[in-house]
Amino acid sequence: MTIVPSSIGGTAGPEETAGQTEKQSGKTRRSDVLSTKESVSDRKSDLNLRPKTLDEYIGQSRIRSMLEMSIAAASTRKDALDHILFYGPPGLGKTSLAYLIAKEMNAKIHLASGPSLERPRDIIGLLHQLEAGDVLFIDEIHRLSRIAEELLYPAMEDYVIDLTAGKGQATRTMRLPLPRFTLIGATTKVSMLSNALRDRFGFICRLEFYTPEELGKIVRRTAGILAVNMNDQAIAAIAGRARGTPRIVNRLVRLVRDYAQFKGHSLVDEQTAHAALEMYQVDIHGLDPTDRRLLTVLVDTYGGGPVGLETLAATLGEDSETIEDVYEPFLIQCGFIQRTPRGRVATAGAYAHLGRTAPSAQLSLNLNSGTEA
Ligand SMILES: Nc1ncnc2c1ncn2[C@@H]1O[C@H](COP(=O)(O)OP(=O)(O)OP(=O)(O)O)[C@@H](O)[C@H]1O
Ligand SMILES: [Mg+2]
Repeated sequence: MTIVPSSIGGTAGPEETAGQTEKQSGKTRRSDVLSTKESVSDRKSDLNLRPKTLDEYIGQSRIRSMLEMSIAAASTRKDALDHILFYGPPGLGKTSLAYLIAKEMNAKIHLASGPSLERPRDIIGLLHQLEAGDVLFIDEIHRLSRIAEELLYPAMEDYVIDLTAGKGQATRTMRLPLPRFTLIGATTKVSMLSNALRDRFGFICRLEFYTPEELGKIVRRTAGILAVNMNDQAIAAIAGRARGTPRIVNRLVRLVRDYAQFKGHSLVDEQTAHAALEMYQVDIHGLDPTDRRLLTVLVDTYGGGPVGLETLAATLGEDSETIEDVYEPFLIQCGFIQRTPRGRVATAGAYAHLGRTAPSAQLSLNLNSGTEA
């Protein structure tokens, strides 16, 4: 596989660390340890840690089987693979899959990202470089400009570019043929894609959060590559705190390794893993201090709710969008918070996690509260 970073494209720059992004946007203040955003050190270690073959890619078994079959079929036909869209939360392995597909297809991969393809010549230049069978990877595809999107439609559907020259009555359209290529799009915000673009993908794949068992396998693999000696209990402890996300689990392995090295432990056991993760303030469920503060405010200040999002946000000194987009999804996924028509409610699980006893009224409220539409 050859990698061609597009002169105009390229994924978000390495300068964009989790911490800087947070500062610039002023939106999230999640600790870097549990951020799903890619940091500079994630990017560096990715060089070794990205799975190199589909067999090394752990989990997402449905997507993997589908890809194995389609890659084999396309290779037999000596044809390009159909266009593929990957969507799902950050750090679950969308970019990794794009690289793997290009490798398995023995194809050149051209890298670009939605925001960098603003002008018609950006996308035309990129399409023009393609050779038969190449993979064009467009990250953050939901951020493509309208004009770029419209140029992509015939390229995806009929392998042509429609060029227009002149104005008014003198307008001429020229159709240039393109070789058969595979477009792989990746996005964390699939709802922002137009239907017209979505419909032009042959496969649309949603990546799921990983189970603790799958994350355990990733920890084992990463520890092997980094030459860290780790026992099964330590592996399970790390996997259980990684919020279902390979990027986070790999970061936790690196942090635990650093801690063990500093303490002079040649074997990472459960105690060492726990001590390291405690030091980084990652609790047993993978919650960080801000998650816990949110639960504590909900339980102590508002008696477990229901409380409106705006009120909760004001008490925490956050904006409501950050609460909704950054903190709540995982707390809901863990079953600690429910969204109800009357506001946010802490569950009995949240009380238990904070070491409090849930009032009986809260327990029946949990049972009776419908979830928000
Ligand atoms: N299935 C997997 N098996 C092993 N490691 C994985 C897997 N998926 C992801 N990883 C690891 O997690 C890291 C993050 O994955 P990747 O960059 O592909 O995520 P992404 O979905 O593209 O994230 P983003 O939305 O932020 O671009 C990879 O570099 C790799 O080390
Ligand atoms: Mg990516």
